[in-house]
Amino acid sequence: MLPQVRSNPLRTFLAAADRHGDLVHLKIGPYHGYLTCDPEAIKHVLRTNHRNYHKSPIYARLKDAIGEGLVTSEDALWLRQRRLAAPAFHRERLVAMVDAMVEAIERTVDRWEAVAARGEEIDLVAEMTDLTQRVIVRTMFSTDLSAAAEIVNRTWPIVNRRIGETFWATKLETRLPLPANLRFRRALADLDAVVYGIIDERRRSGADEPDLLSMFLGARDEETGERMNDRQLRDELMTMLLAGHETTSLALSWTWFLLSSRPEVDERIAEEARAVLAGRRASFADVERLELTRMVFQEALRLYPPAWGFSRLALADDRLGDYTIPAGSLVYIVPFVVHRRPSLWPDPERFDPQRFTAERVAARAQFAYLPFGGGPRQCIGNQFATVEALLAISMIARRYRVRLAPGQRIEPQPLITLRPSPGIRATLEARS
Ligand code: HEM
Repeated sequence: MLPQVRSNPLRTFLAAADRHGDLVHLKIGPYHGYLTCDPEAIKHVLRTNHRNYHKSPIYARLKDAIGEGLVTSEDALWLRQRRLAAPAFHRERLVAMVDAMVEAIERTVDRWEAVAARGEEIDLVAEMTDLTQRVIVRTMFSTDLSAAAEIVNRTWPIVNRRIGETFWATKLETRLPLPANLRFRRALADLDAVVYGIIDERRRSGADEPDLLSMFLGARDEETGERMNDRQLRDELMTMLLAGHETTSLALSWTWFLLSSRPEVDERIAEEARAVLAGRRASFADVERLELTRMVFQEALRLYPPAWGFSRLALADDRLGDYTIPAGSLVYIVPFVVHRRPSLWPDPERFDPQRFTAERVAARAQFAYLPFGGGPRQCIGNQFATVEALLAISMIARRYRVRLAPGQRIEPQPLITLRPSPGIRATLEARS
């Protein structure tokens, strides 16, 4: 299936599940693997028997860029780093981060006033990326990128595209001195300089901020007393910088894409924002009252999960239902496909936020919905991303209608993340 998966992974995985059901054996290049759509089987792999699985060798390409940070590391190293990072995401830390999120969002909506007045088009994905990037560096590293933002904006798309395009490539193909490989390495070196710059600046200032960077810098190994070395720090920061803004910006972009075709839902979101935020500065307590906004966001993550697919390597033989998963084979878990299984999601292509009322969520298998993954390797930024997104959606909807510019054909493009291709052009209409 290599040619099909390379040219159109979404269609290939969707068709495999449609034709063959919840467990499909696929041979992709050198890999034997199993596309798994049954929520019980997914739960088994991600949670119940997670010790039997590592991230799959396909992540090697991701490692080329972000190294061995939380997303890609395994076993003892992963556990230590996850424990170190966890306090940065606790509820009381999230409450404290709301102000920084609100400030960043206010900056965007204020800047948009003139844009709306002039009737100019915006590049929606770029705007959402700018916003989520400012939020992640402010909250996790207590800094702003200032001039370096331009470097991140220029280099990340190169790195992202390269990883997405080389998932199925051999190591040799990615090492040859081809223009695409050289461009990737140059972009990565520029990104590295930004990340090492953040570390150096903090070491120089010696400031003890209540953020992730301080937690990592201050951490000592329980047994050896050693601190994290620069390479490990770099990998963790690079991981957080990239995992922490790209996904959320895409989730927001897809939300506006869906809302623009449903003006009546968009109006109700704006009403909810007016009722809950009531012209005040938004707080953490407000976020919990944004019920419809939450359901809209969850439905957007169902239809367009930014982490559209991931995979695992079976370390020993395992059983999924009536079948043996041999050691050394891969398991593909593809939220984009699981979220469209008609047996789990009736009329799956329809945008319907009511799927996420409390009763309907309770009636559904837990692993039928997994935009943030599941089990011990579940996204550490799950709550962070949700709070940030709900604040952004309601604060923006309170002030503007986001309208798609006419004549666009927008398709999901599966790189590492699911991007709207070729992008989303939109105009802003101020709400009275
Ligand atoms: C809508 C936004 C987001 C989505 C859809 C998302 C999705 C995911 C998914 C599916 C995984 C699991 C991948 C796997 O099991 O192979 C994951 C892991 C991870 N995410 Fe997110 N993420 C989002 C936002 C964030 C944010 C805001 C942060 C940081 C502030 C973050 C940091 C991470 C990290 C560090 C991991 C690895 C966790 C571990 O293995 O211990 N993510 N994310």
